[in-house]
Amino acid sequence: MNGSLRGRSLLTLTDFTPQEINLMLETSHELKRQKRIGQPHRIHEGKNIALLFEKTSTRTRSAFVVAANDLGVNPEFLGKDDIQLGKKESVKDTAIVLGRMFDGIEFRGFKHETVEQLAKFSGVPVWNGLTDKFHPTQMLADFMTMQEYFGHNLKGLKLTYVGDGRNNTANTLLLASAQMGLDFRILSPNELRPDEQLINQAHQLAATSGAKITLTDNFDDALIGTQVIYTDIWASMGEEDKLEERINLLRYYQVNRAMLDHTGNPEVKFMHCLPSFHNTETQVGQEVQEKFGLTEMEVTDEVFNSTNSIVFDEAENRLHTIKAVMALTL
Ligand code: CP
Ligand code: NVA
Repeated sequence: MNGSLRGRSLLTLTDFTPQEINLMLETSHELKRQKRIGQPHRIHEGKNIALLFEKTSTRTRSAFVVAANDLGVNPEFLGKDDIQLGKKESVKDTAIVLGRMFDGIEFRGFKHETVEQLAKFSGVPVWNGLTDKFHPTQMLADFMTMQEYFGHNLKGLKLTYVGDGRNNTANTLLLASAQMGLDFRILSPNELRPDEQLINQAHQLAATSGAKITLTDNFDDALIGTQVIYTDIWASMGEEDKLEERINLLRYYQVNRAMLDHTGNPEVKFMHCLPSFHNTETQVGQEVQEKFGLTEMEVTDEVFNSTNSIVFDEAENRLHTIKAVMALTL
């Protein structure tokens, strides 16, 4: 295993070169292969990692735990009500203490500065498991999944993100696509475009990689000929009070059969980081139905369950990519 990333933190993908991102992706494919054939890979036997969660999680938490076990690493879950962080102890002091005991730290939470401070003061690799600004481990899984369907060279791949164009997922996809040379489009209302500073950064990265970046509210420009449509929930964790406003802004941006047809590409793939509101089988789904009369939000149940949808491959690949990041950086 190449050890060139040892000791590095993953706070955003722009901390890494495209070559380093490719190394993470190739390692992910290799570790997936090893897991499939039952070949043990306990290459970090005896190490310990802390998993800090201020927000809830199914995929990210499970991926870190299973990946750690597969690598021989012991994971310790430290939820927001379990530790002193924030209430009785500063981020800096917490970072120093955890760094004295653990070999690596995962953080999911609100402020991006928190994960930066953990990395600055802990002295061990820190992995961003989602902040309000970025979700880098998600994009590794997304790129791995696209490689499985479209081949390992993703340059020029037409990827359209639809919906809330300024959330953590959109921000990360924007920069990662710019780094890796994709033909990336965000289809969103003007009110939900990414920050100007991120747009400028994306254009700078694109100048080197050859990526094409389009930010638009024009459905033709964003959709025609696209190979992948990607969406996310309309109000991210911590923004629940904005749901009504977002429904009003985004109801015509729902990924449905008409939108897939609009691409002119019957093979178009559908991706979503999950969890998704595609029916009323959740508490939130039921509340939205009662309050707004919607039974589906960002994607219809039909598209979610269609043969175009590759969302569960994407979810599984969270495991292999997170494992690769740990394997390379521990
Ligand atoms: N996609 C993702 O990060 O899922 P969880 O919120 O369940 O971790
Ligand atoms: N944008 C979503 C992603 C969840 C994985 C959120 O932050 O809630």
